[in-house]
Amino acid sequence: MPVDNYTNRVAHFQKLEGLADSVGPIRELFDTEPKRLERFVLREGPLRADFSKQAVSENALNALQDLSAACHLEEWRAKLFAGDTVNTSENRAVLHMALRGVGGSEAIQKEVAAMRERMANFSNKVREEGKFKAVVHIGIGGSDLGPRLVADAFQATGEMALELRFAENVDGASINDALDGLDPESTLVVVVSKSFTTQETRMNAEAAREWLTEALGKKAGDNFIAVTANREGALAFDIPSHQIFDFWDWVGGRYSVWSAVGLSLQIAFGPDIFAEFLQGAAKMDMHFRDQPLQENLPVMMALIGIWNRNILGYSSQAVIPYSRRVRKLAAFLQQLEMESNGKRITRDGSEAGLTCPIIWGDEGTNGQHAFFQWLHQGTPGAPVDFVAVLKDHSARPDHHAALLANCFAQSEALMLGKSEQQVRDELEDRPDVDAIAPQKTFPGNRPSTTITLDELSPFALGHLIALYEHKVFVQGVIWDVNSFDQWGVQLGKVLASTILDELESGETGHHDASTTALMALISK
Ligand code: F6P
Repeated sequence: MPVDNYTNRVAHFQKLEGLADSVGPIRELFDTEPKRLERFVLREGPLRADFSKQAVSENALNALQDLSAACHLEEWRAKLFAGDTVNTSENRAVLHMALRGVGGSEAIQKEVAAMRERMANFSNKVREEGKFKAVVHIGIGGSDLGPRLVADAFQATGEMALELRFAENVDGASINDALDGLDPESTLVVVVSKSFTTQETRMNAEAAREWLTEALGKKAGDNFIAVTANREGALAFDIPSHQIFDFWDWVGGRYSVWSAVGLSLQIAFGPDIFAEFLQGAAKMDMHFRDQPLQENLPVMMALIGIWNRNILGYSSQAVIPYSRRVRKLAAFLQQLEMESNGKRITRDGSEAGLTCPIIWGDEGTNGQHAFFQWLHQGTPGAPVDFVAVLKDHSARPDHHAALLANCFAQSEALMLGKSEQQVRDELEDRPDVDAIAPQKTFPGNRPSTTITLDELSPFALGHLIALYEHKVFVQGVIWDVNSFDQWGVQLGKVLASTILDELESGETGHHDASTTALMALISK
C-alpha cells in the first residue's frame, strides 16, 4: 500500500479508537440519538437488518464511513463490478454477481445464460423422466457448504422432488452414509470440484463410481456428472464431455453456489426455485452497487464488524439463526469469511494487523442451552448476528411465536444485562449475598444485530447470502487483504500427501519426533 494511503488509514483508526470511550451504554444511545432506529435499520426487499443494538454511536458510524472513503471503497466497488482483476495474487476477476445477471461483460453474460439454460434443461429432463430418485452431491468446502445450506432452506418450499444427499469428508463414513440404502440404478452422482484436484472429492468420486459400476457395468457413466472449472481434469477422470457442466475461474469456490455448483439443487427443487434464489441475490448486488455508502446494508454490516474487531477488540463473531432451515449458516460463513479474510498480509506484502474474527455459531434456541452462558457472562463475549424468519409456513404457529420470542429476548438481554443492585434486591436477606450477587449479575452492553427475513423464500435467502458476500468484500478492502485467494490451505494439503505416500510405501521421511511417532502408530 502506498505510504500516504497507509498513514491516512492509520489516522482514521486512531480517530476511531479515540471515539470508543465516548460511546455510552447501548441502551442509552436510544435516548441520546432519537433518530437511531432510522439510521441503524436498513431494509432491502424481504431483508431487514437492525444494527441499533450495536455499541456504535452515530458519531462513530460517521467516522467509520470516513474510514471507508479513505480506503477508496467506492473505487474498489466499481472495480469489482467492472470485472477488473480484483483477485491480484491469482490474476483473476471476481464476478460471481454475473451468475445472477449483474455485472460482467456481454460475452460473460452470454456464457452464463447458455449455462443456465443447459442446467435448466438437464434438471427438467431428470425431473420429468423420473428415472432418478436420489442425487448424491460430492464436493467439499465451497463445493459443498453453499449447496448444503441452501438445500435445507429450499425445503421450506415443499418442492423437493428427489432425495438429496451429500458426501464431503475423505472419512469413508461420509460416502458410505451418502450411498447407504440407495439403488444405484436410480441414483445420480454429481461430482463438484472447481479444481478437480481435491483429494477428498476425487476419492469419494472414485468410490461412488465403483459402487455404480459394480451394479450397472458400462452404463454407470450415465449416472455420473461432473461440475468443474477444470474440464481437462474431469475428462482425464474419464467423464465424457457431455456429462460435464462448466463454470469459470472468476467464480471463487466459496462464491460458487450460484453457478452449476448448484446443479443438484436445481435437480431436486427445480429451475424456477433456483432462478428465484438468483434474483434475490441480484437485488442485493444492485443494492450494494447503487446505494450510497450511508444506506448500504453490506457496508453498514462490514463497518460495524470492523468496529467490533479493530476498535472494541472482539476476536470472534457469533451467528445464530433462529431457523432450523438455515442452521448451517455459521458453517457456511466460516468458509466465506475466514477463508476470504483470514489473512495477515496486505495486498502489497505488509503486515495487515487484526483481520477476520473467528466466525462461529449454531441454531437458536439450541445454543441458549449450551454456549449462551458464555455470551451473557463469559469474558469477553462476542457480538452476535441473530437471523430470524418472520413468517413460517409450517403448521405450528405456537412454536414459531416461541422461537421468535426467544430470539428477540436474547438480543434484549445481551444489551440490557441485569445490574448487581437488581440482583441484591431480589436476593433480599440471603446471608451469602456478597458472594452470590456478582455471580448472578449480567454486565449487558453486549452488541448484536438482528436480521429478519419476511419469509424463508429462495428470493429472501438469495438476499441473505449475497449480503454476507459483499460484507466480506468491504472488510477485505478496509483491511487491505485479497479476499479471493486462500494460500493458507496449501501447506497442510502438501504435507498430507507426503505423509500418505510414506504411509503407503513404508519409507518414513524426515519429520519432527511427534509426527514420526504418530505415523508409527499406523505404519504397516
Ligand atoms: O482447500 C480449500 C479449497 O480450495 C476451497 O477454497 C474450495 O472451496 C475447496 O477447497 C474445494 O475445492 P474444489 O472445488 O476445487 O474441489
